[in-house]
Amino acid sequence: MFDYQLHHIVVTWLRYAGDIIKNSFERDIWIDTKESDRDLVTEMDRFLEKDLVQRIRSGFPGHRIISEEGFGDTVRDTKGFIWTIDPIDGTMNYVKQRENFGTRIGLFYNGNPIAGYLYTPMDDKLIYGIVGEGVFVNERRLKPMDVSHLKDSILLTSNEYLLRNDLNLQEIHAAAFSSRATGASILKFMQVIEGKAATFVMPHSHVWDFAAGWAICEALGMKCTQSDGSPLSILQGSSLVVANPTVHQEVLEIINQ
Ligand code: IPD
Ligand code: CA
Ligand code: CA
Repeated sequence: MFDYQLHHIVVTWLRYAGDIIKNSFERDIWIDTKESDRDLVTEMDRFLEKDLVQRIRSGFPGHRIISEEGFGDTVRDTKGFIWTIDPIDGTMNYVKQRENFGTRIGLFYNGNPIAGYLYTPMDDKLIYGIVGEGVFVNERRLKPMDVSHLKDSILLTSNEYLLRNDLNLQEIHAAAFSSRATGASILKFMQVIEGKAATFVMPHSHVWDFAAGWAICEALGMKCTQSDGSPLSILQGSSLVVANPTVHQEVLEIINQ
């Protein structure tokens, strides 16, 4: 039985993080780069991750944390409870658009998904899933839009990978109704989970980028795997294919033909 006290605590953290992010638009924040000139990180990414890590450490001693900005743990095995944190997903959108970004938290036990949270503060939207309990959008049980086939709906990916035709993405695009790129993987997960898109495909995704969404997919009965169909692991980044089971099979056939 899932610990709903923990659930309410996580929701409080996310709303607090959202308020801090929204307030940050009232002042100048420093912005830095990481692996390239277009890979941005801000003081808010670091502040929020540090804050969430401290909250987990004081509320749940013994639990370990995999996170993007380096305040978590070095995790080499899946034993026990492991949290994943992406403090701001879509940092470029946060800086350049002041919308289309959000915070993600995942919870795993012995490597298996337990719960996932996707929160976009600018529209105050929370999608969460608890394995065995279901998936909820702003506390209402999710009824996903029906997507029977790839041709009826939309492929979500990133423009750079579509242009390079990684994972045969141009063929997946041709087989789909159309494709979209939103610049934040949190939004792509939200759309595919709600059935607003048929599939979300990435040649590479970090653990903090897929873990929370993976847990929600698990709670919903959607597939979230690597591009050869093998299972994801919270110990390593990998390729990613997210879809309902029928569309997932269609996409895997195009990728691996
Ligand atoms: C990035 C965004 C982007 C995706 C990258 C991610 P960040 O996360 O989700 O859409 O293409 O792979 O790393 O850096 O904004 O947290
Ligand atoms: Ca991030
Ligand atoms: Ca991210």
